[in-house]
Formats: sequence, structure tokens, C-alpha cells
Amino acid sequence: METTSEPWGITPSGERVKLFTLSDEITVKISNYGGTIVSIQAPDRSGRMGEVTLGFNTVDGYINSDFYLGATIGRYANRIANGEFYIDGEAYKLAQNNGPNHLHGGIKGYDKVVWDAELLESGLRLSYRSTDMEEGYPGTLEASITFTLREDRLELDYLAVTDNPTVVNLTNHAYFNLAGGGSVLRHRLWIDSDRYSPVGENMIPLGKHDVVEGTPFDFREATEVGGRINDGHVQLERGGGYDHNYVLNQISNPQIRVTEPESGRTLEVSTTMPGVQFYTGNFLDGSDKGRNGPINRRSGLCLETQFFPDSPNQPDFPSTILRPCEKYIEKTVYRFTTES
Ligand code: GAL
Repeated sequence: METTSEPWGITPSGERVKLFTLSDEITVKISNYGGTIVSIQAPDRSGRMGEVTLGFNTVDGYINSDFYLGATIGRYANRIANGEFYIDGEAYKLAQNNGPNHLHGGIKGYDKVVWDAELLESGLRLSYRSTDMEEGYPGTLEASITFTLREDRLELDYLAVTDNPTVVNLTNHAYFNLAGGGSVLRHRLWIDSDRYSPVGENMIPLGKHDVVEGTPFDFREATEVGGRINDGHVQLERGGGYDHNYVLNQISNPQIRVTEPESGRTLEVSTTMPGVQFYTGNFLDGSDKGRNGPINRRSGLCLETQFFPDSPNQPDFPSTILRPCEKYIEKTVYRFTTES
């Protein structure tokens, strides 16, 4: 394992940004701007290294993008209905930055701030202190993510503590494309999940999970991502494709596997979190110019390990409230292998 760091530009407000490279069997580039995974290079079945994420060559690409490429998302990943919630009877109001809803931490979420960085023997720790009422969230939250590279595995250890009750849901928003380009519809996906969270017209979960059985949401056997995406299911119409939370069965390890048949590249995801947002890049529209040209619709897929969307307003979902006496400790591991 080797780590290096280099200067990577300056934000409009004058903060210096760095790019860190972690190299082992895979090579991972991470910036402290937005806690962003900028690049992952992994071998195909013949050992040829190739890029497996969508991204930009410069920090300006990330500063100007609205698509959260590779970013750390917080304080609350995914949507909160109408940008409001209650803790202990107290009402809190957040930005409505996605139609009527709050999305991915607000106008200046964790994806648009510069994190403190500390190089470690086996990786990198990024830390960010968000002050009380930043983006409307109560409590000062000290968050850190430790990125550890071990052979073919990138491990993300999330830690957060607060001085007042708040809500927390941290994730990474990497868009994967194991072919290194083109559409992700031929990728094959397996998710160990029997249930997913159907959404209403405003993309907020309806509150009850539906069984995947007999629907295009069933990935309990490895299935092509694009095989059923256009079959007219009302939930797929609503999301413009897959853009849904899956309730992980939490029995197997890994819980998710994606394979790209041509290269054989395979991504396995294991997590302590109860859910994953499977998103097929439906909103990408070619307006962002990435490292290989326009970033087109469905040219990347996200597997955002997370607590469920809108949990602060959903009494039947696992709680996302963090109190001063508690620690938010979660882990997600991405492992890159090949299929022969
Ligand atoms: C995803 C979300 C999508 C979209 C995307 C960002 O996490 O599920 O609906 O908002 O982020 O463009």
C-alpha cells in the first residue's frame, strides 16, 4: 500500500484542495473537496487496469456539478419530505433543494465543503465539523470517514458524534461503470434484498416496503440492470428508471454484487447499514463534461449504502436520530474482483 498527496486547486472561497492517491491491487484517488472518490482503477480479467467510476480531472468539475459524483453525502443522504422534521417535538426546517424536498444535505452539503485530511499508514482520514444549524440541522456534528485500502478492498469507516440531538445519514455517491465507458444497462446486478421502498410522485417513500418478488425490482438472482428497466412498472416510471431504496436482508456478506460481462470486472459491496439506494443515473444528461467526455444518462450506477430515505418522518423506519451520548459508526466495503 502506498499513499501520495498533491495540491489539486483552490475553491472560489480560497480553500486549498488536495488529491490523495492510495495504491495497492487497485488505485484509488480521493479529494478532500467533498470527501470525493475521484477515481478507482481496477484490473479486468486479463489484469488490464481501467477506470471504474465517473468523474472529472479537475476540482472545478466537482465544484460546478450538481450530480454528486463520488462525493460524501451528509448530513442526511437522500430525501427528507418537505425539508422538515421533528426531534423531541421541536420542528426543524431545511432547504427544499429538490422540488418540495430536501436532498443530500441541502444547498451546501458535505459534498461541497473542504474536509480536513490526515494521511494514515493504510489510507486517509477525512474529517468535517458542521456547526449547529448549518443547512438547518441542529447540533454540531463531528464527522470522519476513514478510507482504508487493503489489496482489492476499499473500506469506508464512518464515525460521527454530536453535541445535541440531530439526524445523520452518511453515504458515498460514487457512480460505477465497470466497463470504463458507455451505458451500465448490460451490467449484471445481484442484491440480497427481498423488499424495497416504493415512492410517491415526489420520490418520498410511501412508508411500507413492498416485496421484490414478481417485479423488475427483484435482483435476488444476478440479472441485467437494463433487462426490465423499460417494462412500464409504475415505480420505474416514477424514478425514470431505478432510483429506489432496498432493504438489505443483512444475512450475506457481501450483500451486493455487480459484474460487467465483457471485462469480467466485479464489484462487491458489504455494509453495516440497513439499506442501499440503487440509482441508474437517470438524471445524468450529458451536460457535465467528465474525464472521458459528456456524462450521459445511465452511464453510471450508484449503490448508496444508507439508512432509509425520509426516516426522520417515517415512524416505521429505523431511527436516524443521533444523540450526544451515542456514536454513529457505520462501515461500507467495496471489493473489486473479476469473474472468469
Ligand atoms: C440520487 C438520488 C436521485 C438523484 C441523484 C442526484 O442519490 O436517489 O434521485 O437525486 O442522487 O442527481
